[in-house]
Amino acid sequence: MSRFVLITPNTDFDARVRQALAGGLPGGLQTFAFVDPANPAELFTNLNQERPEVLILGPDVPVEDALRLATVFDVQLPELSVVLVGEADPAFVLLAMRAGIRDILSPAAEPAEIRVLLERACQSYASRTRTAAVKSPNAPKGLVIGVFSPKGGVGKTTIATNIAVGLGKVAPMGVVIVDLDLQFGDVASGLYLNPEHTVTDAVSSSASQDSLVLKAFLTVHPSNIYALCAPKTPVEADDITPQHVTRLLEQLAEQFQYVVVDTAPGLPEIGLAALEQCTDAVWVTAMDVPSIRGLRSGLEILRRLDLLPETRHVVLNMADSKSGLSVQDVESTIGAPVDVSIPRSKAVAFSTNRGVPVLQDGRKDPAVKGLRQLVARFDPAWRATAQKKLHRRVVV
Ligand SMILES: Nc1ncnc2c1ncn2[C@@H]1O[C@H](COP(=O)(O)OP(=O)(O)OP(=O)(O)O)[C@@H](O)[C@H]1O
Ligand SMILES: [Mg+2]
Repeated sequence: MSRFVLITPNTDFDARVRQALAGGLPGGLQTFAFVDPANPAELFTNLNQERPEVLILGPDVPVEDALRLATVFDVQLPELSVVLVGEADPAFVLLAMRAGIRDILSPAAEPAEIRVLLERACQSYASRTRTAAVKSPNAPKGLVIGVFSPKGGVGKTTIATNIAVGLGKVAPMGVVIVDLDLQFGDVASGLYLNPEHTVTDAVSSSASQDSLVLKAFLTVHPSNIYALCAPKTPVEADDITPQHVTRLLEQLAEQFQYVVVDTAPGLPEIGLAALEQCTDAVWVTAMDVPSIRGLRSGLEILRRLDLLPETRHVVLNMADSKSGLSVQDVESTIGAPVDVSIPRSKAVAFSTNRGVPVLQDGRKDPAVKGLRQLVARFDPAWRATAQKKLHRRVVV
């Protein structure tokens, strides 16, 4: 599919755009050396009815032709993000704005700069199509899937990032992962992202009043999902309140089919605020006595406080038949069946260090099977047919 269309006879610029996309933006690029401004429809005939998201009017397209094409597309395809390559002098910018051009790129831009700009253009395309499609007060809300565990280091972030990447295949651009481990979150490193904006921006008053502003603070990940990463310093986390979190998750659930939330270990206030917004809670324990006991106590407290979300998924991570414990031991201690088991795997440990979740690179590994089973639990097709199998015994 051609997500990007470039019009230019300039092969050097074409090569730089291709390099920019190879840096991690999914979706193909189709280049046309020339489009007749008197007949823009021809372009779309050549695209075989595909609807591109971003149109780049590249170097060596005469300015009058570029402005004319942009004006026509602005009327016919208002969601399309049109980017013009040229020098941004003020008089010209005004003309470009009037023609509906969304951004201007220097002809000398390097691939990294081009990539950032194209990412932004995709985000603004997604915002426009989404605002057009959704936005009635009764619009259905997305699933909010929180990943929790009383003990640290049991694999919450690994599981949350894989759920998000896995769901990105079910609902491309319909998934956002939010890092609510505000002090020491590592979703950014788990997804190899260097975000410009974080939760700090997303809870600012401008974003909490306007979901389009909020969307501009999300970072696009190559697996067709959005990410909202933790603040850059632990100090910033102090300014984020449980009320902020409640509002943030409400807004995201209105905009996305899936909101995946990674959390800090334990039951901190921020985590409890998130839990209250969750439709689904994924409870993670490793196969060791302290984390299993921790989960039992955590679930007991939450049950007493009546804070458990409707749908529960218990995940036994780093499962190992040589651990000296059986699944039955785990289940009888926590007082709930284990729904999914994910074996201990070198590929998973390696994927954390690379910043590429195992479900992203499609490798074969025993842990991948467990993670896929977990992702399937959020697929509408599975939910519709498999309610009876919601809690079936697993084998390690
Ligand atoms: N199934 C697995 N097999 C092998 N290693 C794993 C597995 N799951 C997670 N790990 C590794 O365990 C380490 C901790 O995982 P992760 O960061 O996901 O845990 P966490 O619960 O988010 O930790 P924290 O509580 O500190 O946020 C990582 O290095 C990760 O690669
Ligand atoms: Mg973590």
